[in-house]
Amino acid sequence: MSTTDRGLFITLEGPDGSGKSTQAKLLAERLRREGRQVLETAEPGGTRIGQQIRGILLNSANQELRPTTELLLMFAARAQNVEQWILPALEQGQIVVCDRFTDSSIAYQGAGRGLGTDTVLAIDRIACRGLAPDLTLCIDIDTETGLARAHSRNRSNTEKSESRLDEQSVEFHQKARAAYHELARLEPRRFRLIDGSGTPEAVAEKVWSEVAPVVFARPFQ
Ligand code: TYD
Repeated sequence: MSTTDRGLFITLEGPDGSGKSTQAKLLAERLRREGRQVLETAEPGGTRIGQQIRGILLNSANQELRPTTELLLMFAARAQNVEQWILPALEQGQIVVCDRFTDSSIAYQGAGRGLGTDTVLAIDRIACRGLAPDLTLCIDIDTETGLARAHSRNRSNTEKSESRLDEQSVEFHQKARAAYHELARLEPRRFRLIDGSGTPEAVAEKVWSEVAPVVFARPFQ
């Protein structure tokens, strides 16, 4: 369904602690200021069912969770989000801004866990039914800086134990970041790397300079 008669599907990606969630919010606000209708969503989560799945995935008590289970749960949450929120919003011509999508599974489960891109894409065909982002902004940050930010956020968030994935080894996170770089090399039109090292406002300007031409090329919905 990648035609001009539906809305635009934009995803944000990036290593843990890259600031992509802040960028997703700033982008959605900017699009609304431009008069566009925007659905903001996030993964894993996004729906009530997805939030429950997120609880299993990120609970640091769930150390025995296997890579394949992790992959299937990521896509279970995604399938619910695609059917419940994303496709209906796109059918109404809205712009959907989604904080993480299948590229996260390629990076973390495909590369980080070593399950491979082909396995991830095989599940994607079932769960997403051909839906793919029109544009992806990947907020890039070096692994150590990102993890330091993620860990300090976890420490100040003691009531939630959503840290199982942040706690993985530096090597795991380096593999995920390398997979993002490979996606940028393979799909340069869709998948854009953004240097995430500046202030949030400076990074938001870089994001907007990638998004604006794509949004303004579409008829106003
Ligand atoms: P997120 O809520 O975006 O947290 P953060 O802001 O710390 O990046 O994502 C939670 C974790 O889930 C994060 O470590 C990335 C991981 N993840 C995957 O491993 N695979 C996926 O498909 C998705 C969507 C997320």
